[in-house]
Amino acid sequence: MARPDLNIIVCVDPRSCLSHYSQGRNGKDLLEELQDVVAEAQLQDHVQVTPCRCIFGCTYGPRIDVARRWDGDKRLYGTSQGQVTISRRGRVNMHRLPADLAELVRDNLPGA
Ligand code: FES
Repeated sequence: MARPDLNIIVCVDPRSCLSHYSQGRNGKDLLEELQDVVAEAQLQDHVQVTPCRCIFGCTYGPRIDVARRWDGDKRLYGTSQGQVTISRRGRVNMHRLPADLAELVRDNLPGA
């Protein structure tokens, strides 16, 4: 893969994100759903989806970080919306995980 526009990392750490749910989905469910979204839209050259261990903000898990390589922005997703304080990173702007994960992908691609 050439350098993707988006790197989406999905926490599947059993310490928290496998037992926290966003609209019925834990970290593993979100990972699989995102992989399906990318495959169905044939975006494999533009979007990389990777499982990871704790990325902090477990309280708001399941947690996903989206690194937008094309504009240098990094967006944090979880079960809250707005300013929150998380360990190690301090005060951050959290985005609520949408019901439709295709929306999350679309919203972070260039030209959205
Ligand atoms: S265990 Fe998932 S963010 Fe900490």
